[in-house]
Amino acid sequence: MPDRLVAIYPGSFDPMTNGHLDLIVRGSRLVDRLIVAVLKNTQKEPLFSVSERMETIREAAAQFDNVEADSFDGLLVDYAARRGANAILRGIRAISDYETELQMALLNRRMRPETETIFLMAREEYSFLSSRMVKEIVMLGGDVSMFVPDAVARRLSARFPAKQ
Ligand code: PNS
Repeated sequence: MPDRLVAIYPGSFDPMTNGHLDLIVRGSRLVDRLIVAVLKNTQKEPLFSVSERMETIREAAAQFDNVEADSFDGLLVDYAARRGANAILRGIRAISDYETELQMALLNRRMRPETETIFLMAREEYSFLSSRMVKEIVMLGGDVSMFVPDAVARRLSARFPAKQ
């Protein structure tokens, strides 16, 4: 039987946080197939390359058979069409996420009505987490191991040895 619900979970994932991983775990239970898709080439100075980000997603989600990591550029809805996906998965942390997410969901729906956006509310313990803040803490020599999956923490400690 063909997969009925194929969802794309798109994002920058630079770096992937525990909040992202929680969404992957919960999303994987809801859909037949979940494609975690890293957006290529948006930032001038990324922490990790796109392939490193895909590797960390693969490592962190290795136990979930219906989850895969990929990358994309161009319009998300075009990528969804190429991958035969009928859903986009996004997380919402606080009301501040709502406006942008609503705008993206409505634009994406107008461009490709076949793709339904599904939102999951972030777990409260991750509602304050963002890749941008994790990156800032790392750059300033702080410890972020409690905020990111082990696969990310290992790479970060190799690249940014802890300050004495
Ligand atoms: O992790 P982020 O940065 O919040 O993810 C944003 C993302 C990747 C979902 C968004 O920037 C996106 O979909 N970019 C692809 C280009 C596109 O389709 N833009 C129009 C969206 S309405």
